[in-house]
Amino acid sequence: MNHSEFGSFDFRKYPKYQPLKKADRRWPDAVLTKAPEWCSVDLRDGNQALIEPMTSDKKLRMWELLLDLGFKQIEVGFPSASSHDFDFLRKLIDENRIPDDVTVQVLTQAREELIVKTFEALKGCKRAVLHFYNSTSTVQRDFVFGLDRAGITDIAVKGAELVKSIAAKYPQTEWVFEYSPESFTGTEMDFAVDVCNAVIDVISPTPDNKMIINLPATVEVSTPNVYADQIEWFCDNVNHRESLLISLHTHNDRGGAVAASELGLLAGADRIEGTLLGNGERTGNMDIVTMAMNLYSQGIDPQLDFSQMDAMIAVCKECTQLPLHPRHPYAGELVFTAFSGSHQDAINKCLARRDGESLWEVAYLPIDPADIGRSYQEVIRINSQSGKGGVAYVLNRDYGLDLPRWLQVDFSASVQALAERSETEVQSDDIHHLFLETYLLDRPQLSVGNYQLARDDAVDHLNVMIEGLEGSPTLSGKGVGVVGAFTDAVSSHTEHKIIVVEYSEHTLGSDADAEAICYVQLAIDGTRVCGVGRSTDIVHATMSAILSGLGRHSSGYLSAA
Ligand code: KIV
Ligand code: ZN
Repeated sequence: MNHSEFGSFDFRKYPKYQPLKKADRRWPDAVLTKAPEWCSVDLRDGNQALIEPMTSDKKLRMWELLLDLGFKQIEVGFPSASSHDFDFLRKLIDENRIPDDVTVQVLTQAREELIVKTFEALKGCKRAVLHFYNSTSTVQRDFVFGLDRAGITDIAVKGAELVKSIAAKYPQTEWVFEYSPESFTGTEMDFAVDVCNAVIDVISPTPDNKMIINLPATVEVSTPNVYADQIEWFCDNVNHRESLLISLHTHNDRGGAVAASELGLLAGADRIEGTLLGNGERTGNMDIVTMAMNLYSQGIDPQLDFSQMDAMIAVCKECTQLPLHPRHPYAGELVFTAFSGSHQDAINKCLARRDGESLWEVAYLPIDPADIGRSYQEVIRINSQSGKGGVAYVLNRDYGLDLPRWLQVDFSASVQALAERSETEVQSDDIHHLFLETYLLDRPQLSVGNYQLARDDAVDHLNVMIEGLEGSPTLSGKGVGVVGAFTDAVSSHTEHKIIVVEYSEHTLGSDADAEAICYVQLAIDGTRVCGVGRSTDIVHATMSAILSGLGRHSSGYLSAA
């Protein structure tokens, strides 16, 4: 088909990826039980992809961060291609900045002059991974190099021979060799195995002195299960598997880099290359934070420490000058936040029953935010999607108000209306302000003045002055308890039937002179209305709550008399 036949948005333009035919796959039954060997490529692949590559200072900050996080293998650059990478590697070596248990890795193409320069950069290094590569895919063979399989194999073999012979001249360095058939996933699998076997024959690794074979999804071109099939097939067919560490290096063009690496591990790989938060060419490298946290959330020690997630993000942002998506897995600002009412309710219930000892089983929260330095404070936030549970949670958390359910229901309509009006997230202090405005006016129309309460034969007798009524009259009533006596006093002043249907109170704070807050739901001639009263005196708070309900229902009730 001629290209001119294609329209501008035309799927027919794209050839279908031909997956490996593999009927005997074993990896779907495997489970991950331990962390792989991790290798950060932030300072090489990640750095190569930046609009502004890292300065030496930024590289050093990133290097120190990677050490703090616990990386033991770090690809620090491409010294034969970049003088900055060369100088940075020299700095690490000359200033003795490489801890004994950490191995630096450097990348070079399998080309003589580049390999020679790479060894120069590594002089004096105690232990290093020398990572060499050449492209093996059909597209690169046909359109970039114009070479057949033999020609491509020749490049790899010559590279391996040179690497091995130069390394022998520097026996004071402990060498590990890594070979990548670049664009592995665009390469026929039999050829990928052949070219790697040819390299392995030259390097001649042993079980005690393994070499790394890195199988990159340089561009992600298929679903992760296809990659896993390829890895399993490769592991089954490559020579000297027992003398190899199989490493994966996935990119995220289709958004599946983490999944591909995870399934690749199930398929038999040992080692993972990736970057923090997935920085890297195009859509990025595989995100090691996500992959490690996926292990962590399954009860597996990831061997990396992300407990200071926000500090890590700050360094990454500073070094890469890239923002972090608020919904980035585990790390984004919003990933432990619930706006939806039903989610908030479920989270509240699960958190309330936790005793600190039990395994983490909390709806909608795959991990405990506290583990990565996030607080529960941010879990529940309010917008127009939020329900009563979230509002109650926020009022309790920030203001110590423990709203009974019937009041939550009553108040949620006001919050909903506010959120819809503002069309944005509603902050906790907005909600509190709305609560005070709704139920607890600073200067209510009616308020409780002096009162006397006396008990006689289990009946309470009350005389209470109501301020705000003309002449501030003192009303009298009797009943069982202050609620009964007060509603009797108020009812006797009106024609209306006032019943307290629901009642709840608690103190605000733990001091002896702490205020009490009282919540009531009244039925006034059959209509329900809620009120809230607050005072250092619980009797006063109760009467104020009833007056608040009356005032909200209609100011005409008392003044009408
Ligand atoms: O993505 C890739 O193929 C690479 C190789 C050089 C390993 O970065
Ligand atoms: Zn890469």
